[in-house]
Amino acid sequence: MTQGRATQETSEQEGRPLLNRRLAAFGTTIFAEMSALALRTGSINLGQGFPDTDGPEEIREAAVRALRDGRGNQYPPGPGVPELRAAVAAHQERFYGLSWSPETEILVTTGATEAIAASLLALLEPGDEVIAFEPYYDSYAACIAMAGARRVPLTLRAPGFRPDLDELRSLITPRTRLLLLNTPHNPTGTVLTPDELSGIAALAVEHDLLVVTDEVYEHLVFTGAHHPIAALPGMRGRTVSISSAGKTFSYTGWKVGWVTGDAALVAAVRSAKQYLTFVSGGPFQYAIAEALALPDTFFTGFLADMHRKRDLLATGLRAAGFQVYEPEGTYFITTDIAPFGDEDAYAFCRALPERCGVAAVPNSVFYDDPEAGRSQVRFTFCKKDEVLEEAVTRLGRLTG
Ligand SMILES: Cc1ncc(COP(=O)(O)O)c(C=O)c1O
Repeated sequence: MTQGRATQETSEQEGRPLLNRRLAAFGTTIFAEMSALALRTGSINLGQGFPDTDGPEEIREAAVRALRDGRGNQYPPGPGVPELRAAVAAHQERFYGLSWSPETEILVTTGATEAIAASLLALLEPGDEVIAFEPYYDSYAACIAMAGARRVPLTLRAPGFRPDLDELRSLITPRTRLLLLNTPHNPTGTVLTPDELSGIAALAVEHDLLVVTDEVYEHLVFTGAHHPIAALPGMRGRTVSISSAGKTFSYTGWKVGWVTGDAALVAAVRSAKQYLTFVSGGPFQYAIAEALALPDTFFTGFLADMHRKRDLLATGLRAAGFQVYEPEGTYFITTDIAPFGDEDAYAFCRALPERCGVAAVPNSVFYDDPEAGRSQVRFTFCKKDEVLEEAVTRLGRLTG
């Protein structure tokens, strides 16, 4: 992975770098780098995936109420407040027909980010191999490294970004311990089909592999539907499923996430979580418990809104000259900058704010094989319509 390009924040002390070898390649995340650049240049930030409109007002009020009523202001229970665990269970039952025990099969975390870290730190031994789709969400590579394990990429290639299951089979070795999935997939927008999920599940069963699946965009699927792999035969006892409130309810700053899985798996993840954060922030948990119980109209309305924004940005990017890979899910669009005669996405993204006042992120940093994503640039569309329209106007100047 080319995170080595990220700025090295270590200073030398008696010839030894401060940042340890496992993390040396992971200086500053690309999101921090490009967001800082956006701020410095006054650009529209379509790099980092956070909405510029808060989620439902009644959910914010629920958080205020919890704070005022003193619910969760002191250490809440380690596994999460009972109300939120019950709400996660009800949500999984309602949308996927999956039933989990709130007592033993659900763990509340500090965002999906902690769930990913705790899962990998709990389940991996140094030297284990983890197969993950590249381009990766960047915390995967860092957490695999922190666990002392080795990442093995299964490259999703343009234009379709589908996983090649024969290639997946060929990557499995006796050291493979875990498959790390992400569907809907950031940054490509790929949503795994029932056939792909069945094929992956069959391989996991055949080779006795664990699966950690990051499903934070579960409610952002425009083509097809979201299917949790945990529901497939043989998967319940080997799958840790991860989700989060940030993307679904547009409160990314609250950092409320959760893990669902078989009791033994959740107990293992809980052991790691105890020594990362011990417990997660209290009052927001009560509010997200209410959010998960919102009526279907909330979820369908949110999706319709994002679908419209996707189309608005995709149309604008095409008109501006980008090659657009239309995402099936998430709130990102991956593009190719080859039509501009540019090849280096990282250089393109560093120059973009100065050139036209828009910031984006290069997908190339999410690949171990930089060639595979060399000319790909990712834009987010979780912004107000007028912001997207202005961004599109500015991007139009690239060729004008
Ligand atoms: C694929 C993926 N997983 C996890 C996260 C982080 O989720 P959270 O903010 O809940 O920690 C993100 C955020 O961008 C993401 O895109």
